[in-house]
Amino acid sequence: MLLWSCLRTPFFFFFSFFNLQVVNGIEIYSMKIDSKITSRFAHNVITSRAVNRGNVHKEVFFDVELPKTAFITNFSMTIDGVTYPGTIKEKEVAKKQYEKAVSKGQTAGLVKASGRKTEKFTVSVNIEAASKVTFELTYEELLKRQFGKYEMFIKVKPKQLVKDFEIEVNIFEPQGITELEAEGTFITNDLQNIIKKTFSDKKGHISFRPTLDQQRTCANCSQSVLDGDFTVRYDVKRTAPDDLQIVNGYFVHFFAPTNLPKLPKNVIFVIDISGSMSGREIQQTREALLKILDDIKEDDFFNFILFGSEVQTWKETLIKATPENLDEARKFVRGIDTAGMTNLHGGIMRGIDMLNAAHERNLVHKRSASIIIMLTDGQPNVGISNTQEIQEHVKKAIEGKYPLYNLGFGYGVDYSFLEKMALENKGLARRIYPDSDAALQLQGFYDEVSNPMLTDIELNYPENEISDLTKNSFKHFYDGSEIVVAGRFIDNNQNHLTVDVRGEGANDALSYTTQQDAQQTDKAFQEQEYIFGDYIERLWAYLTIEQLLEKRIAATGEEKENLTAKALDLSLKYKFVTPLTSMVVTKPEDYNNQDGIADKPIEGPVQLIDGDPHFIISVPQKEDAICFNINENPGAVLNLINDPVTGITVNGELIGDKRANSDAKIQNTYFGKLGIANKHLDLKLTVTPEKITIQNGNEKTGFTWLDSVTLQQEGLTLIINRKKNLVLSMGSSASFVIVLHQVWKKHPLHQDFLGLYTLESDKLSEQTHGLLGQFFHPIDFTILEIHPGSDPKKPDATMIVKNNELTVTRGWQKDYRRDPKHGVDIPCWFVHNNGAGLIDGVHTDYIVSSLF
Ligand SMILES: *[C@@H]1O[C@H](CO)[C@@H](O)[C@H](O)[C@H]1NC(C)=O
Ligand SMILES: *[C@@H]1O[C@H](CO)[C@@H](O)[C@H](O)[C@H]1NC(C)=O
Ligand SMILES: *[C@@H]1O[C@H](CO)[C@@H](O)[C@H](O)[C@H]1NC(C)=O
Repeated sequence: MLLWSCLRTPFFFFFSFFNLQVVNGIEIYSMKIDSKITSRFAHNVITSRAVNRGNVHKEVFFDVELPKTAFITNFSMTIDGVTYPGTIKEKEVAKKQYEKAVSKGQTAGLVKASGRKTEKFTVSVNIEAASKVTFELTYEELLKRQFGKYEMFIKVKPKQLVKDFEIEVNIFEPQGITELEAEGTFITNDLQNIIKKTFSDKKGHISFRPTLDQQRTCANCSQSVLDGDFTVRYDVKRTAPDDLQIVNGYFVHFFAPTNLPKLPKNVIFVIDISGSMSGREIQQTREALLKILDDIKEDDFFNFILFGSEVQTWKETLIKATPENLDEARKFVRGIDTAGMTNLHGGIMRGIDMLNAAHERNLVHKRSASIIIMLTDGQPNVGISNTQEIQEHVKKAIEGKYPLYNLGFGYGVDYSFLEKMALENKGLARRIYPDSDAALQLQGFYDEVSNPMLTDIELNYPENEISDLTKNSFKHFYDGSEIVVAGRFIDNNQNHLTVDVRGEGANDALSYTTQQDAQQTDKAFQEQEYIFGDYIERLWAYLTIEQLLEKRIAATGEEKENLTAKALDLSLKYKFVTPLTSMVVTKPEDYNNQDGIADKPIEGPVQLIDGDPHFIISVPQKEDAICFNINENPGAVLNLINDPVTGITVNGELIGDKRANSDAKIQNTYFGKLGIANKHLDLKLTVTPEKITIQNGNEKTGFTWLDSVTLQQEGLTLIINRKKNLVLSMGSSASFVIVLHQVWKKHPLHQDFLGLYTLESDKLSEQTHGLLGQFFHPIDFTILEIHPGSDPKKPDATMIVKNNELTVTRGWQKDYRRDPKHGVDIPCWFVHNNGAGLIDGVHTDYIVSSLF
């Protein structure tokens, strides 16, 4: 042990010059991504091989990002020739097994996190010096057709130079392939010709194998250029709208008519203009609407409905998109500004009523497609604000006549409400991420639904021949997309199928029958090597599970239980990691290591303080977090954030339990009062678990947690979500979320307390300091020597941070943003002694005399 400490510095020195592929003692010498796509169903295997080049045992990480729409189907680790397979379990069962392993002194191996389009799978294992490990992960996904292409993306991020790096994609499409593209966001001109691409008739092939030198960011650099998305796009030949395939008692039907005239459409835009949209959001909304107006066709009808506290409409009825009307609409859009609170119910109901009236009065084309697109960034708090009641009213008013698309802007939305409401009304919900490209995201969504070609599509199969049919009726068919239906033959040996196709087009109704037999499929599939086993059966299972999970979102009671049971059953049978199942990896005990769980993950952490008070500092580049507690006496006021440039300070006052615990050395403390001040705005916000007070100059305004408030005044937006949380944004600087924790009123010990979460902390200046504020600047750390600690459930390690060497402990802290009652566990490295060595100075430096 002693020797190891002495060697530590030269060790890094040695590796950074001697062997450029070795990072922290671990060399990943091979990484292969092998993708086989058959009839849009992709089966991907990622294999990574690593060796421990160091002379002590080391933790090896395998982390990959997968598309959210994919399901993991297999995972295994092979250490020195012995394979440790993953098994799929029901989530509750898996959790128990995992907890048991943890209580045996083994630690967590898998971390969950997610990006916009991806989810992260992470596993780590300790391996001995000179030992090798192979990780193999398999996932499957049905590729969706959008804008006339199927797209598959592979996130590439090996984090070091890899001797043998390879992406190989083999596509087999029985209809024939018409175009094939491959590109990488990280591909420079030099790398472009390393992508090899060929396709002919039914087969396509792509390979990408950069050499070590080609992976380097510069001639002698050890950094890898491989960091980004590798995307494959293709389309299939279409001689007919239908492609029916029958294999081993299952069938799949791909339906994508081309050359149909477009239907005129009637679009109602219902736009949230409540105070919280002010600033960038409303500007991006205007920008997107202006672009959308450029794409509206003359045959279309449209209108805008704006809701703040009041509901305003642009025109009293839907208006034809003549050039003059579009010009007028542009003027209107440029003038859209924010006002008041969130009367979502009023806005959406006005939109539905207007569309219903337009149909009743034959104002719009008889053969046309109507849609409602609603954009909101908040939660309803004016008019009817009970979300269940809103859902009921909306469903009753729409009556399945047209789809409702809900776009949720930012993190303040009640997304599950938007999603339920959209799914109940044949539409879908989409998140709009509050980023510089938000206008593009909005516009991109509009593009997807801007070219309806058919309405009321029904694909009917003989009822007495087919069971377990996936969804077969669809409200709209959009140009460039594809409808997929799969099912199972009651008679396993049946090899013939007839389908009756119906829909309503721009000029007339579509109605015909088409058929297929298994021999034809067999003939199309002569190139057997491309077929992975029972792909149609798996495609059917994938689609069925996806649809059951979707239905489950809006279901309640026994119906929900039934849907859950069915989806779980199929997930287990076909070994898919879905929101109902987990993959449990039992790691070798010899290595004093761990069980892990692969889950469909939840969103990652931000910088926050909550509970004890515990501080959680997320370190994105490490995909990890550091945490620490501050133990001070009740009454102490701590400076959390102090930014001399924006003039923002945040202080927090501690409270204790109702009575001191005489047995405990350290008393529990929590934040009982938070003070946020903005010197430049002459503004002070005081928040306690009882009330919220804003002081602007000499003017004081008070609210309680029973209020639902959206307050908008110069440079300031305050949203109080009754009994839950409040969101405060000040001009163009950071936003804060304060979460209310209410304990049971008669709790003998605990009292209500507060948590603070900062969003967009990069908007504060570089001079920001304070117990939390100092961590808004990038921070890095290194973890060495993971070893058993005093608590068998939590191993210790050495952390090198800010040139200090600290003993830290692996643990969890709670993030209560999503679930204020139970919180979500965030794994982190815990720094002891009030963050000593991690924070600048000592914690008592941060004690201030008063809240302001
Ligand atoms: C999972 O992967 C392992 C390792 O390649 C393999 O042995 C096993 O058969 C796979 N399991 C399934 C169900 O495909
Ligand atoms: C790369 O390193 C070699 C050996 O140290 C040196 O001779 C060469 O000049 C370096 N090349 C560049 C471009 O820095
Ligand atoms: C749930 O499943 C049970 C057993 O299959 C069935 O009797 C019941 O009608 C189902 N309930 C609903 C609401 O679908």
